[in-house]
Amino acid sequence: MGKQTLIDIAAAMVAPGRGILAADESTSTIGKRLASINTESSEANRRAYRELLFTAAGLEQYISGVILYDETIRQATTAATPFAELLASKGILPGIKVDTGAHELAGFAGETVTEGLDGLRERLHEYVELGARFAKWRAVIHIDKAAGRPTAGAVEVNAHALARYAALCQEVGIVPIVEPEVLMDGSHDLATCEAATAKTLTSLFAQLRAQRVALEGIVLKPNMVVSGKTCPEQASVDEVAQATVRVFRRLVPVAVPGIAFLSGGQSPQMATAHLQAMNDLGPLPWEMTFSYGRALQETALAAWHGQPDRVADGQQALLLRARLNSAARSGTYGVAMESGPG
Ligand code: 13P
Repeated sequence: MGKQTLIDIAAAMVAPGRGILAADESTSTIGKRLASINTESSEANRRAYRELLFTAAGLEQYISGVILYDETIRQATTAATPFAELLASKGILPGIKVDTGAHELAGFAGETVTEGLDGLRERLHEYVELGARFAKWRAVIHIDKAAGRPTAGAVEVNAHALARYAALCQEVGIVPIVEPEVLMDGSHDLATCEAATAKTLTSLFAQLRAQRVALEGIVLKPNMVVSGKTCPEQASVDEVAQATVRVFRRLVPVAVPGIAFLSGGQSPQMATAHLQAMNDLGPLPWEMTFSYGRALQETALAAWHGQPDRVADGQQALLLRARLNSAARSGTYGVAMESGPG
């Protein structure tokens, strides 16, 4: 598969004004989301919820790609159009989560390694047949300053796995979203998150180079540099933007076409404000956009509440957040827009 194909897909994923919707929650994670609105996590309800998201009229104006889960890429609309086909017909690239989750790393208490490499080549071939143009793999890095986490060992095994995954994706013509997530969990300060993020990115790009991954054909999906969730002193929006852009300028080669952030537990409004503040610090050498899960879906889930007669409310809520994040990635978001029409 030609490198140009990868470059073209990656460019489309981070195209100006658009970002990525992460709707690839595993069955267990979507179960928790549905439980939060007192809705049973049946196959029918999971399908109905994803249909609400993907059929929102005009979503393609703000969304370039949607990350699907294995169950979801095999599902279809009420009118029997496969979700991947529906998205493609709207000009939205279908993507697929291919890792099988973070598992305890033997010998490294409190740290994890993401699994899913066995049989991945064959699975990728099947996902291409099902319409996937890009994939996602999430590595999870845990901070605990007192315990010396993240350890160099855990950072390295996760970077190694990400690079192996990325190389396999490129072999079959799928663009890998490379996601090293340094978690917000903990009471650490901004500087500690910055150091852990720097350590993670340093190891990641060394592994990507060593394993011959074409940087022009990936999309990086990192955490922002933020204060730990329970840190008594929370960094301001400007401090977050400056620390995040600083670490990326130092460590992410300009060959990478785009950085699409995860929201990681930030509130929808904070995730948008941070994205705007980072784009204010431009010009930047890469596209800087969003690949949010919770920050795009939280208000939509609440508005829908599992009620068939509230599908349109859920869609309006999704479209509002998509539009605001599109504005933020273009540097035109202002908090006054929060009350605007979807
Ligand atoms: P959040 O934006 O909710 O962190 O989800 C993004 C994602 O894809 C995590 O892997």
